[in-house]
Amino acid sequence: MSAVKVGLLGLGTVGGGTATVLIRNAEEISARLGREIVISHVAGLDIASQSIVDPAVTKLTEDAFEVVNDPEVQIVVELIGGYTLAKDLVLKAIENGKHVVTANKALIATHGTEIFKAASVKGVSVCYEAAVAGGIPIIKAMREGLAANKIQWVAGIINGTGNFILTEMRDKGRDFTEVLKEAQELGYAEADPTFDVEGIDAAHKLTILASLAFGIELQFDKTYTEGISKITPDDVNYAGELGYRIKHLGVARKTARGIELRVHPTLIPAKRLIANVDGVMNAVLVQGDAVGPTLYYGAGAGAEPTASAVVADIIDTVRTIDAPLEHKVPLLGFQNEAMRDTPVLGIDDVETAYYLRMQADDQPGVLAEVSDTFAKNSISIEAVVQKEPASGESSVKLIMLTQKCLESQVNKAIAAVESLASVQGEVVRIRVEHLD
Ligand code: HSE
Repeated sequence: MSAVKVGLLGLGTVGGGTATVLIRNAEEISARLGREIVISHVAGLDIASQSIVDPAVTKLTEDAFEVVNDPEVQIVVELIGGYTLAKDLVLKAIENGKHVVTANKALIATHGTEIFKAASVKGVSVCYEAAVAGGIPIIKAMREGLAANKIQWVAGIINGTGNFILTEMRDKGRDFTEVLKEAQELGYAEADPTFDVEGIDAAHKLTILASLAFGIELQFDKTYTEGISKITPDDVNYAGELGYRIKHLGVARKTARGIELRVHPTLIPAKRLIANVDGVMNAVLVQGDAVGPTLYYGAGAGAEPTASAVVADIIDTVRTIDAPLEHKVPLLGFQNEAMRDTPVLGIDDVETAYYLRMQADDQPGVLAEVSDTFAKNSISIEAVVQKEPASGESSVKLIMLTQKCLESQVNKAIAAVESLASVQGEVVRIRVEHLD
């Protein structure tokens, strides 16, 4: 069979990794596929100085539109990231009848509906395995391996940079900014690293996972997002004393009232496997009604782990390159006409447990007053820790774990506690998930 011609947009961290893996493992890949994959055209910045692809085999350009308009190219692999140019290039490639592979979670989470519609009109495929959790084949697992199940919830550590920062802070007491800089140097972080630390990158990925899990439209704008930049070493330590670890978790859960879609720092019992996923590693826990819990673990960022997913998508695309769309797995795992309009709940309607930390006067009766205020607001306390006052201070830290309640309910209780004369400043709140 003739070789399949691939055009690469971007030769940065992921693009370079993809070209490297395609070239290094060419024999292994064609042994699996039964045909060769040739990188026939590459667009990148400062392309003349690249040393990854052979210019005798591959056309080089700095104009990405040359690749998407190249009649020889059958599969366009978009690895430039971002929303605007990437969207124009992908839509142009589709208009030109080319199949698309992308690692761009921002693009899929925000413009996926439009892109998938265009692809279905043209009868081409769009693969995006590398968009979620780097090298972990979670899209394939959810669209195919778990297709028998009604998915009940998904919880994931889906940002490698954030997990790397939290792990280094906890294990080595390192400074937030210094670890972030290292993550950037290692090629883990987004071009704008606030996407990593403020949870936007994880929210893009969770948006995609929720659509795959529940058959709902991609709804990034409805995903609640809270970052890790306000997590203090104190909270990391107190969580540890209580038997928990703080992880930046994405949670998508189907409830009787709608779907919870949220990314935030979360206390997880230290004994859970997922609580022990450290460094740049990602993990996604999926609960299906038939299979029960399944856990997927691997590198969530980095050149070759991400390239592993991109190349697997190229191979998948080649396998069914001439097949009609109805013979392929639907892009979000559900038939278009079967997509559901289940509402996404606002954060006030989410139900979870809480870790609360406050500073209170070191006086008799204060603990009782605080507990009573929570009780009057129907919040049930599961554990309380009182820390000794620091030398020369007359206030103490109170740490409480609540039972599950509605976010709106805990907000009311926190406001009441903050208004007590014996409590100083704001109550710090971190959500708790037991994942059982
Ligand atoms: N910046 C992302 C992360 C890269 O740290 O997980 C992979 O999407």
